[in-house]
Amino acid sequence: MTAQEPSATPSPAVAAVVVLAAGQGTRMRSATPKVLHTLGGRSLLGHVLAATEPLGAATTVVVVGSGRDQVEAHLASVAPGALAVVQEQQLGSGHAAEVALAAVPDVEGAVLVVNGDSPLLTSRTLETLVAAHAAAGSVFTVLTAEVDDPTGLGRIVRDDRGAPQAIVEERDATDEQRAIREVNAGVYVANAATLRRVLAGIGTSNAQGEQYLTDALAPLVSGGAPTAAVLADDPEDVLGCNDRAELAARRRTLNDRVLGELMRAGVTVVDPATTWVDVTVTVAADAVLEPGTQLKGATTVASGAVVGPDSTLVDTEVGEGASVVRSHVLGASVGPAATVGPFSYLRPGTRLARGTKVGAFVETKNVQVGEGSKLPHLSYVGDATIGESANIGAATVFVNYDGVAKHHTTIGDHVRIGSDTMLVAPVTVGDGAYTAAGSVITTDVPPGAMGVARARQRNVAGWVLRRRPGSAAARAAEAAGHAGAEAGADTRTTASE
Ligand code: UD1
Ligand code: CA
Repeated sequence: MTAQEPSATPSPAVAAVVVLAAGQGTRMRSATPKVLHTLGGRSLLGHVLAATEPLGAATTVVVVGSGRDQVEAHLASVAPGALAVVQEQQLGSGHAAEVALAAVPDVEGAVLVVNGDSPLLTSRTLETLVAAHAAAGSVFTVLTAEVDDPTGLGRIVRDDRGAPQAIVEERDATDEQRAIREVNAGVYVANAATLRRVLAGIGTSNAQGEQYLTDALAPLVSGGAPTAAVLADDPEDVLGCNDRAELAARRRTLNDRVLGELMRAGVTVVDPATTWVDVTVTVAADAVLEPGTQLKGATTVASGAVVGPDSTLVDTEVGEGASVVRSHVLGASVGPAATVGPFSYLRPGTRLARGTKVGAFVETKNVQVGEGSKLPHLSYVGDATIGESANIGAATVFVNYDGVAKHHTTIGDHVRIGSDTMLVAPVTVGDGAYTAAGSVITTDVPPGAMGVARARQRNVAGWVLRRRPGSAAARAAEAAGHAGAEAGADTRTTASE
């Protein structure tokens, strides 16, 4: 859109965004395409797209090549509006940009070209770059950074007056150029028409025999075109990611940023070194994250909740004042004031209402637990609806799977399931009912009834003295005075029905 055209909304600062993501990423040594490696809850590519998104460009082109099927599938899920353009052969970043622009021949004006492997880029840095490009009346503007260690990166060569002259790749640099600490960030804003023209003329006479995007600058400068090099405020923003060590370093930096924001917003992070929070997570003020906590995906933690130590939560909602201690929680909802752990494993579809308790060595899946109900110890609770204020005794198993299909168990309000009960689904235990410890419940228990389903106990009197004579047990029994008295007799206890 030109300045003359009337417009109700401000025109976007760039007409198109081009993300270069076709490279092999050889240095990752991975079967996974480099841009799909993840940190902080997004892929490298996902972070770049999240940073460019607020610029509001009408067109976003992602150049794919190596592992293109995987990259295209990922793109369809994270940025369905973006256009994937295939670079059949990875002939260099300049070639990749050329292929991208050829795919959108109608795009004119400013385009932002970004390497797909810079996960720490922020929208603010990009907006500053685009604004500087416009203010300078530039046709090609490169984002740069001053770094302590420029190893492996393209160097920015400036003239005596500080005007950018060229970008020189390390492999092609002189010793003098290698000493330069200002590096190319791999982020450029260029006039589309100018970039198309200059890229068409770029050769491959460099150490890698590739068509470098970085070689666009020098011919424009010698042709007298207005160009610019803009230094990023924060050099961390522009750091790329070429191998696993860099991936780990970027992950750490990103995590430090996320935790820094949370702490400034009132979250207690007891040990930032061992706490990992995805960029997609929300944590409210006055929540506490204990050491060893990992919060991933769409997880949200409400005020006053305590998570950790040593807990991993994925796509999980934690309500106000709840606590999750030493537990692994996937796709669950932990209600306000609920307590989970230590050592609980909550699987997808677990919905714990207010004030519920899930204790040690309890696994849950696809279960709705009503307010105040307790699953305190050593149980498997799957495919069930549990009412309010029920108690599920230790070592209860919800036997939900017959080898073919899953079946549902319904437990009413104020039910007390005795320890070591097997609830063979489908089955219903009515409101206020009990089950006897050790029962295998295969039919419904009506409200208020006691379900008993176990063998009666038989005591074989004198067995120890006859079968284990002289043993410590026999001596103890003799000392107790009635070890052999009723030898041979069986006694039966009476179930306390
Ligand atoms: C590139 C820059 C370097 C800069 C650094 C910043 C070039 C020649 N060099 O180096 O000046 O300091 O980024 O991190 O651009 N790609 C394609 N198709 C190709 C080749 C590459 O799409 O044929 C993509 C890659 O997927 C990657 C980007 O272009 O996202 C840059 O390629 P990469 O090999 O990572 O370049 P660097 O050596 O990091
Ligand atoms: Ca790179």
